[in-house]
Amino acid sequence: MQRDLARILFPRERIQERVREMAAEISTVYGEDSQGLIIVPVLSGSIIFLADLIRCLPFMMKIGLMTISRYRGATTTGGEARLIQDLNVDIRQRHVLVVDDILDTGNTLRIVQDQLRGRQPASLRTCVLLRKPAKAPKDFPVEFVGFDIEDAFVVGYGLDYNDLYRNWPDIGVLRPELYA
Ligand code: XMP
Repeated sequence: MQRDLARILFPRERIQERVREMAAEISTVYGEDSQGLIIVPVLSGSIIFLADLIRCLPFMMKIGLMTISRYRGATTTGGEARLIQDLNVDIRQRHVLVVDDILDTGNTLRIVQDQLRGRQPASLRTCVLLRKPAKAPKDFPVEFVGFDIEDAFVVGYGLDYNDLYRNWPDIGVLRPELYA
């Protein structure tokens, strides 16, 4: 897998360190006895991040699942996001934290946020491991961000190209000639 990467952006140790810091930031906001928090991961890219993040949270929480289909092509260009499978828990008057791997254009997260906001949660916040400031709207509502990155297609740590590379523990830039 490594030979398909142009370079490594974040080695696994740096990711783990930042995930622990993010969990501490989240804990400060929700408090240590936040029994009511429901975490809604945006599948499938967030699964590795989610697994690491929630094990660093020192309070009770539940996971609510919903499925969004993203871009149809192999990379971010083209295609749309739409709701495929609805949430499996009632979030009315509950604190909700959306967890996603990357905020790129924001199309996917906007759909998720709109869906959830309509169900009148007590609060709605969003946490992403990566954000591309060159693409994401400046005012996009996201409360927790792991790393801001350049506008390059990245894989690893849950992020995929054609469903591959999710199990690569580092995050790296995919060699452009592989998807051009
Ligand atoms: P939008 O544009 O809706 O994109 O914010 C969000 C979703 O698109 C995927 N995405 C990527 N996946 N490397 C990936 O492996 C990338 O650089 C990338 N940019 C966007 C991802 O699933 C994300 O949740």
